[in-house]
Amino acid sequence: MERPEGNTTLKVFEDTEIMDQLQDPRLMQMLLKGANNVLDVMLDYKQLMFAASAAMKIVKTKLEILDTEFKMTHNRDPIHSIQTRLKSQASILEKMAKRGIEPTTENMERYVSDLAGVRVICGYVDDIYTIEHLLAEQDDLEILERKDYIVSPKKSGYRSLHLILQVPVFLPGGIRKTKVEVQLRTIGMDFWAALEHEIRYKKNLDNEMLLKRLESCAEVIARTDQEMQSIRTEMEAHENQQKDMELILEKLRRFDVPLP
Ligand code: GTP
Ligand code: MG
Repeated sequence: MERPEGNTTLKVFEDTEIMDQLQDPRLMQMLLKGANNVLDVMLDYKQLMFAASAAMKIVKTKLEILDTEFKMTHNRDPIHSIQTRLKSQASILEKMAKRGIEPTTENMERYVSDLAGVRVICGYVDDIYTIEHLLAEQDDLEILERKDYIVSPKKSGYRSLHLILQVPVFLPGGIRKTKVEVQLRTIGMDFWAALEHEIRYKKNLDNEMLLKRLESCAEVIARTDQEMQSIRTEMEAHENQQKDMELILEKLRRFDVPLP
C-alpha cells in the first residue's frame, strides 16, 4: 500500500490502522485484561498509601493532644514541632531495589515500615522519653520496633529515638493495621541531622577528616542538650521550693487572722 506524504496524513493513516486492528476481538480482550491488571495494582497502591496517610494523621493528632494535655497540667510544651511526610514512589522503589525486594504492593506493606513518617521535635531529651511513655500507654497503639540512637548514637553521630508504631485505621471494609515510623529528637539533634544530611548524602561526602568533624559537632550538641536539661531541672526544683514556701506563708497569714 502506498504511504501518503506528510506527517499529518501519515498520523491519520496509522490511527486508522490501529482502529482496524482493534476490531479484532481477541486483541481487544488482551488490551482490556492488561489495562485491568495495571489498574488493580495502581488501586492497591493507592489504598496502601491512603491507609498510611490516615495512620500518619492519627499519630499526629494523638501527639498534639498529648502536648496540649501536658501543657494544661505542667504549663510547658514538651513538643516543639511535628513534621509528617509520605514516602515518595521513587524512594520506595529505591529502598526495595537496594534490599533486593521484589516491588509488589504486598512487599511494600510488609517490608517498608516508613511509608508514613512522623518527626517529633522536642525541647529537651527527657521530653522524648515522656512522649514515648505516653504513646506506649495508649491501648490502640502497638510499638513494633524501637531503636534508641540517643543512648547508642550511630557512627555518623546521628541521635534520635526511632519507633515503628502500628495503628488501626478504621475503613468501610474493616480495620487496616498500618505502620508509622516516628522519629523523636531534640531541636539540637534535628539541627545536626538536617545539616549533616545535606552535607553528607547530597554531596556524597566520604572525607574521613570532615566526617570526624561532623561527628564531634554531634557530641558538642549532645553535651549542650544535657546542660540545657540540667538547667531546666534545677529551675523547676527552685520554682517548686518557692511554691512550697509561698504555701507555708499563706497558711501562716491565715493563722494570723485575729480572732473576734
Ligand atoms: P533505612 O533503610 O534508611 O530506613 O534504614 P533503617 O531501617 O536501618 O533505619 P534507620 O534506623 O537507620 O533510620 C533511617 C532514617 O533515620 C533515615 O531515613 C534518616 O531519616 C535517619 N537517619 C539514620 N541515620 C542517619 C544519619 O547518619 N544522618 C542523618 N542525617 N539521618 C539519619
Ligand atoms: Mg527505616
